[in-house]
Amino acid sequence: MNLAYSHREFSFEPEDHTAIARLAYEEAGIVLQPTKAQLVYGRLARRIRACGLTGFADYIALIQEDSEERTHAIDALTTNHTSFFRENHHFEHFMETCWPPLKKRLATGGRVRLWSAACSSGEEPYSLLMVLLGTDRQSAGALAKQDFRLLGTDLSTEILSSARNARYHADTVKTIPPALREVWVGKGEAGGAQLHPLLRQLATFRYLNLLGSWPMRNRFDAIFCRNVMIYFDDETKARLQSRLADQLVVGGFLYIGHSERLAPEVAGRFSWIGRTTFQKVS
Ligand SMILES: C[S@@+](CC[C@H](N)C(=O)[O-])C[C@H]1O[C@@H](n2cnc3c(N)ncnc32)[C@H](O)[C@@H]1O
Repeated sequence: MNLAYSHREFSFEPEDHTAIARLAYEEAGIVLQPTKAQLVYGRLARRIRACGLTGFADYIALIQEDSEERTHAIDALTTNHTSFFRENHHFEHFMETCWPPLKKRLATGGRVRLWSAACSSGEEPYSLLMVLLGTDRQSAGALAKQDFRLLGTDLSTEILSSARNARYHADTVKTIPPALREVWVGKGEAGGAQLHPLLRQLATFRYLNLLGSWPMRNRFDAIFCRNVMIYFDDETKARLQSRLADQLVVGGFLYIGHSERLAPEVAGRFSWIGRTTFQKVS
């Protein structure tokens, strides 16, 4: 027997992995190669216990029937790793190049839309808000009165509730620059950290499967879609990037993760600006 499949508590056979991998691919576009068997086992064993079942065969039968438990399974299979100011060069570019004309537009009554697609627990959209607000709390009140929206979306319902609560472990907020931390981070429960309510009111979080239909009517001025495409195959990446291009205004910016690339069939719609930073040209 393959060592990857020999575990103590529940038996986990290659065909179990295949069934779960098929479901993760169909539901979320996530590719789970056989080398991920250990990860799949560890994450779903918790759900098997929570459901009071005795093994993977019963659990697979359950998630094929029960959409609520299927959601829990997909939640458990997603990797939500993120951090404040991750790949900070994107926030620097946003501040230097993207934001100044948008700020002017807002001041003259215009509309600005930003999207953090696959935002996980919110560190990415909140970092964006902190950079554009700077250390002035009053600027948050002013922005709230303008036609500004920052949308954060993710597939994982559990992680979205963390994003809405904006409560973080004290270590998590250490990557926020001290001057911004001083203004926007307060003390939370049990020694944790709580982001300022003014930040929370400026971000809207919604469930959205990047593979499904997108309800947004307006185009975005900037889209952060970082460190999610690494879980997708080439076909899914190309389709997603083409939809992201459709959803951006001409001249809008797309920021992708450090190990991600634009698919050849989409690359012509963007000009390369710098490290994993692209501007839509058509
Ligand atoms: C590694 S995190 C990246 C978070 C953040 N963008 C960053 O770069 O730090 C990947 C996120 O993608 C989400 N995700 C995975 N598949 C998705 C899908 N099909 N639609 C929407 N979100 C998805 C996961 O739930 C997870 O929160």
